[in-house]
Amino acid sequence: MGNIITGLDIGTTKIGAIIAEINGDMQPKIIGVGTSPSAGLRRGVVVNLEKTIRSIKEAINEAERMAGIEVDEVFAGIAGDHIRSINGRGVVAVAGQDNEIVAADIRRVIDAAKAVALPIDREILHILPQEFVVDEQHGIKDPIGMSGVRLEAEVHIVTGAITSAQNIYRSIDRSDRRVLDLVLEPLASSYAVLGNDEKELGAIVMDLGGGTTDIAMFFEGCIRHTAVVGLGGKNVTNDMALGLRTPVDNAEAIKLKHGCSMHRQEERDITVEVPGVGGRPPRRISKSYLVDIIQPRMEEILGLAYNEIKKSTCYHLMTAGVVLTGGGSLLDGTVELAEEIFDMPVKLGVPNGFTGLTDLASSPMHATGVGLIHYAHIHKNNNDELLKQDENGLFNWVMGSMRKWFTGMNRYETH
Ligand SMILES: Nc1ncnc2c1ncn2[C@@H]1O[C@H](COP(=O)(O)OP(=O)(O)OP(=O)(O)O)[C@@H](O)[C@H]1O
Ligand SMILES: [Mg+2]
Repeated sequence: MGNIITGLDIGTTKIGAIIAEINGDMQPKIIGVGTSPSAGLRRGVVVNLEKTIRSIKEAINEAERMAGIEVDEVFAGIAGDHIRSINGRGVVAVAGQDNEIVAADIRRVIDAAKAVALPIDREILHILPQEFVVDEQHGIKDPIGMSGVRLEAEVHIVTGAITSAQNIYRSIDRSDRRVLDLVLEPLASSYAVLGNDEKELGAIVMDLGGGTTDIAMFFEGCIRHTAVVGLGGKNVTNDMALGLRTPVDNAEAIKLKHGCSMHRQEERDITVEVPGVGGRPPRRISKSYLVDIIQPRMEEILGLAYNEIKKSTCYHLMTAGVVLTGGGSLLDGTVELAEEIFDMPVKLGVPNGFTGLTDLASSPMHATGVGLIHYAHIHKNNNDELLKQDENGLFNWVMGSMRKWFTGMNRYETH
């Protein structure tokens, strides 16, 4: 058996664990998939530790049973509307005598670029270099070995609330597993649903989750903009529960079976049964009434997401369009509605690039879980102090400071 990687997607409505076996450069082989309903999160953020721990254990145990192995280390996703991103720029003089740029220069210039004033309650999750500039020459992705006097770096910095990350660490720690890395969820998803050509051309990953809608924009192979809208599929369900005067569980079941984001010709004659509550008989409502409830909320969510996309300076460069992931993308009519609102090509993001349990993991709902596996496979050997190139030849400097911080925290924690 090769190396094992586990991806843990801690979502607002479900927790998903995916175990994969890695054999050299071959595609990861998924050997275990476990999901469990999640009740301890609100809008992507852990608010109830005990419930979250229970769900994490359930999801991992199920994946372990399927895989026939036990895992004690995971790569976990992080999301929520506490995530912020900014672009930074750093400049240094090349230190070596012969002006050859070496890894130490890259480290210094990245350090300079990340030296932004961070509020004390935030930590850096990712520093993602976009390009390097050597003596006024722009667009360089890998300056090591080049000659130059002045080295500049443009980086995308993703930060998160320390407490939110801390609660993810705590939940996993108390589920008796260790966190190897925390990865921004839409960044992870991009590894499962976007091809290198799409990242190069300009593409957007939009994860329509239960609690939040997460966005990551890519151009020329690098992440350029990240954003979060604090609404998701749960809001649609809640609207339906109110509108249909039925409990949330019923509303959810009706949404999965009959829900639609857009009015369609054929819906005119369709009616849908709403179970009665408190001994009342079931009622029938027209499907178009259902769409009347769902569509405005989906338009709101996608409209807010569109506003976020437009804030990016590379908005006009998104040639490959939008790839939708997350359970919310499975709502009938959502791809068409998004296409109308964004005026861009939109498609469903089905995770790919793996073998094994393809039938279980090939759903847009598992894009983050599968993406965590790909991300880990590429960056696993990343040392805190080292930069490692991924398959695009891009540098990714991950989590160094945060991981150290948490290692310190765990030592003092009593539980
Ligand atoms: N077939 C489907 N049709 C419509 N909606 C669906 C379908 N399957 C799942 N959903 C919706 O997708 C949402 C859950 O998606 P997902 O599992 O991606 O969210 P999550 O990861 O738990 O949440 P978040 O990412 O916001 O923290 C729920 O609101 C659910 O109702
Ligand atoms: Mg999610």
